[in-house]
Amino acid sequence: MSKLPEIEKTPLMEQFEEETGKLSIWNGELSNDFKKWQKKKKQEEIKQIKEDILSQSRLEKKKMKKESKEEKVVGRDYDHLIVVENLHKTYLLGTTAVAALRGIDLTIDNGDFVDIMGPSGSGKTTLLNLIGGLDIPTRGKIFLEGRNISMLSDNSLAEIRRERIGFVFQFYNLLPQMTAMENVMVPLHFSGKLSRRGKRKKAMDLLRLVGLDERAHHTPSELSGGEQQRVAIARAFANDPAICVLDEPTGDLDSKTGVMVLNLLRDLNKRGATFIAVSHDAAVSEFATRVFHMRDGKLTHEGKIGGLKETEIMQLKRRQETEINKEKCKSKIFQYLYANQGKLEIPISDIRSSIPNSIVMNLPEHFNDILQELIEENNFFGKIEGEILILR
Ligand SMILES: Nc1ncnc2c1ncn2[C@@H]1O[C@H](COP(=O)(O)OP(=O)(O)O)[C@@H](O)[C@H]1O
Ligand SMILES: [Mg+2]
Repeated sequence: MSKLPEIEKTPLMEQFEEETGKLSIWNGELSNDFKKWQKKKKQEEIKQIKEDILSQSRLEKKKMKKESKEEKVVGRDYDHLIVVENLHKTYLLGTTAVAALRGIDLTIDNGDFVDIMGPSGSGKTTLLNLIGGLDIPTRGKIFLEGRNISMLSDNSLAEIRRERIGFVFQFYNLLPQMTAMENVMVPLHFSGKLSRRGKRKKAMDLLRLVGLDERAHHTPSELSGGEQQRVAIARAFANDPAICVLDEPTGDLDSKTGVMVLNLLRDLNKRGATFIAVSHDAAVSEFATRVFHMRDGKLTHEGKIGGLKETEIMQLKRRQETEINKEKCKSKIFQYLYANQGKLEIPISDIRSSIPNSIVMNLPEHFNDILQELIEENNFFGKIEGEILILR
């Protein structure tokens, strides 16, 4: 009789024998009882692992809930008005991921006038939308007044937008069928805290603040671009927001009007308003108290530093000068046309040469465009054909 190969007992086999009192080996082979027991044991183990994983995630959820509760409590007493931590935002375009924000850290305090500068596509609007609660981040956190707003429900976020944040956009976004005053009253209706009279008074006070009380009953189409933007600023302040966010606030304005709006913002800031503006207009940074530079979804540096500041001031000054020249140029054109009444066709070069070179050489636009603007502004029956001005 050949010797059966010895099976070495494993700890599991010993455990089986201890638990059941049966043999794990029978006729030199693993016994059927043991095989069955082993299978059952394995299934139990898998079940346990599954349960562990489940309870782990339950625990984490509980922890997260607790954390967000704590964040709310912290909310009553905070170090910075806004804290942005390692903020990421990735958009999905079909199957392509567009990383619009790639790790932004930023703190903003009460009374700051922050300007974030950067080229088109650098992520400015995305950042502003997240801070303003219009969208939620892919990763990272945003604390507003100590409260983590990066994972709130749509409803809570809408409430924060309504009560704590004022918005100003490039294209004013006023309701066209309403007067300036009615536009400013819109947010007051939503918060529902004031009586009808109270709302009217508050709207009027806000319009006075932006210097437009006399225009209160005009509709947007009866107001200039600069005036419409001032109404939008008044509206943004209706609910006494913690911060006012501005996306390209001067983007649709000529530089002179832009500077007027910026002066208003600076004035409001000096009275305590907090702003965060994003823009690729260098003029905005001249009025801000803190300037950040953004590129490819990241903040590269803070500060109106060194040469940068100087060039920005130079640019602004130059732009103001050329705007003044444009006005001078228009009045010289007027003088020329007045002196040449009766002529039906005038070479544009003749008009040009009647204006001092120092003016013509420093215009913000092409001379013919300025001439065209003057014709339109004054409803002249004039037409530019090639290099000739034809008057009828
Ligand atoms: N809703 C969107 N869906 C997909 N991609 C977007 C969306 N919004 C912005 N992007 C992309 O994210 C990047 C940053 O855009 P944006 O924040 O608008 O920059 P900026 O305001 O500086 O011009 C750009 O590449 C843009 O094409
Ligand atoms: Mg933008």
